[in-house]
Amino acid sequence: EKGGWDSFMDKEIHEDPAAVQRTLLGRLNRNGDLNLDEVHIDEHDFKAVDKIIVIACGTASYAGMVAKYAIEHWVRIPVEVELAHEFRYRDPILTPRTLVVAISQSGETMDTLMALRHAREQGSKVLAICNTQGASIPRESDAVLYTHAGPEVAVASTKAFVAQITAAYLLGLYLAQVKGAMFRDEIHQVLDSLKHMPAKIQWVIDTQSGTISDAAKRMVDAKSFLFLGRHVGYPVALEGALKLKEIAYTFTEGFAAGELKHGPIALVDDGEPVVFIVPPERGRNVLHAKVISGIEEVRARGAFVIAVAEKGDPDVERYADVVFWRPQCPTLMSPLVDVVPLQLFAMDMAKLKGYDVDKPRNLAKSVTVE
Ligand code: F6R
Repeated sequence: EKGGWDSFMDKEIHEDPAAVQRTLLGRLNRNGDLNLDEVHIDEHDFKAVDKIIVIACGTASYAGMVAKYAIEHWVRIPVEVELAHEFRYRDPILTPRTLVVAISQSGETMDTLMALRHAREQGSKVLAICNTQGASIPRESDAVLYTHAGPEVAVASTKAFVAQITAAYLLGLYLAQVKGAMFRDEIHQVLDSLKHMPAKIQWVIDTQSGTISDAAKRMVDAKSFLFLGRHVGYPVALEGALKLKEIAYTFTEGFAAGELKHGPIALVDDGEPVVFIVPPERGRNVLHAKVISGIEEVRARGAFVIAVAEKGDPDVERYADVVFWRPQCPTLMSPLVDVVPLQLFAMDMAKLKGYDVDKPRNLAKSVTVE
């Protein structure tokens, strides 16, 4: 039940912190090392993994894209992310050392299920990251790592997304641990940052909701939105664009901010709303300055800039029209917080337009047809 909220989407966004926390729970042993015995893949098989291919659709594929940045950095093996319906009809290069990771909230998405069969037929092991116990995708996989977001009822995926990133990060850190790709202390440090994320997400919900609903009121008549980010901010931009189009029926496009001058800047006109995901670690992350210069470029063409940025970021204070602040956190952790204001913004926009946020037109919660 909705437990006092006006919609399931409202309730589920407010469960983002708990979804991350519950997905971390019980996966560390007494020494603070990761223990993923529950997935029933032999440690030797994990050690042998030399490539990961993530297959998923929609929001789940964006969680996979976020994980690619982290896992390649931590484990130093290539990670590809592919839409399940594309993967299925190609002739992918798979070996017994390729780990295919199928990410799915419902565990029933037909395209993802068919893609995992395609991978298994060719001798690869498939690990499912899934939110639904006993669904078809985990049943047909070699192994499963459950996200413990709790049942997600609203059609638009919210808490499942942050739980999927968390689970994929645990998988990456576990691979780093068994392959000796990182020092034990480094892994513990990352796990520590992960443990701090639920409180940071909560801070966004508690302190930014007012700014977000005011922004939605100001923007409710906008015909289109662009969403831009780089590195892990890129999949967050794609997810923010998807949320807004699917529930508020506003035309949106998300893309990598570096692409601006390769075409999309032509769309920027007076008053065009552009949402930027500004990376944290100003001064240490070279991409921070690049994103800021993207903001300056669109501002010069009259865009209305909405930024998701670190609290007190002086460059953002100078150039953005509206800011959704995030607390300090490492770059790889930022997607877990940055998506939250975008989920709230999409919900507020849809409500202002009078739409049913839980049941957007033309969409189903699990897509069991191809
Ligand atoms: C977007 C959304 C969809 C799903 C996609 C995959 O809000 O809900 O894009 O993410 O249909 O669904 P699952 O994760 O159930 O495989």
